[in-house]
Amino acid sequence: MKKKTKNLIVGNWKMNPETVSEAKKIVNTIKRGLLNIKKTEIVICPPFVYLDSLKSFSGKKTSLGTQDIFHENSGSFTSQISPNQVKQFDVVYSIVGHSEKRKLGDTDEIVNKKVINALNSGLKVIICIGEEKRDHSGEYLSFIKKQIFLALKDVSKKDIENIVIAYEPIWAIGAKEPMNTSEIHEMSIFIRKILREIYGILGDDIKILYGGSVFLENAKSIMVDGFVHGLLIGRESLNAKNFLELIKDIDKI
Ligand code: PGA
Repeated sequence: MKKKTKNLIVGNWKMNPETVSEAKKIVNTIKRGLLNIKKTEIVICPPFVYLDSLKSFSGKKTSLGTQDIFHENSGSFTSQISPNQVKQFDVVYSIVGHSEKRKLGDTDEIVNKKVINALNSGLKVIICIGEEKRDHSGEYLSFIKKQIFLALKDVSKKDIENIVIAYEPIWAIGAKEPMNTSEIHEMSIFIRKILREIYGILGDDIKILYGGSVFLENAKSIMVDGFVHGLLIGRESLNAKNFLELIKDIDKI
């Protein structure tokens, strides 16, 4: 079993880069720069088609993840990819319920099925949650609570060490600025409270990440002032130089 690390940094490459050689170049640059990293686990989630070519990224503190995973392990499901299939490429994690997948039709029920199948197949899951917009009456809080409850339906306490919650307010994804750190802090407390409601005393058993316009310049303050265990990073994870600097900064926390 991997030793528990303090920080978790996940790169979500989405449908990038365009070629496998670019993908290898990014991964090699990142991997080469990680020799002195001590407290941080790094996960890269490339497009499925690059997994085989990027297997060498897997190591003691580094692993590959997928951006989605299907809720069955075999059968007549055109175009879908199962946990067992990706595990051949040393995949350890899968993101589930990213807002861009939810927008394409993944309901809370589908997200829950995917979470359960991934866990049962031995993958760790990064469950994305997040509101589309905020309202003064605080309805977004009930929305977040419902998303968490539905995603974790029938997920037992023995699985919690394999669950990560990534809070990504949709309006901050692909934007210029992240959510401000005091609001991130509020949300991390709120999410912890919900997880305690579901599973009882938790401590840091379930890591909470923030995602949405995280860059080299703001990563450290989001982690420290936002009180999160890690970050889910889109665009900046494709910029090998910045991503590496960001990881080094975070490792000093
Ligand atoms: P971004 O994407 O860092 O480019 O805003 C984050 C995400 O969608 O996970």
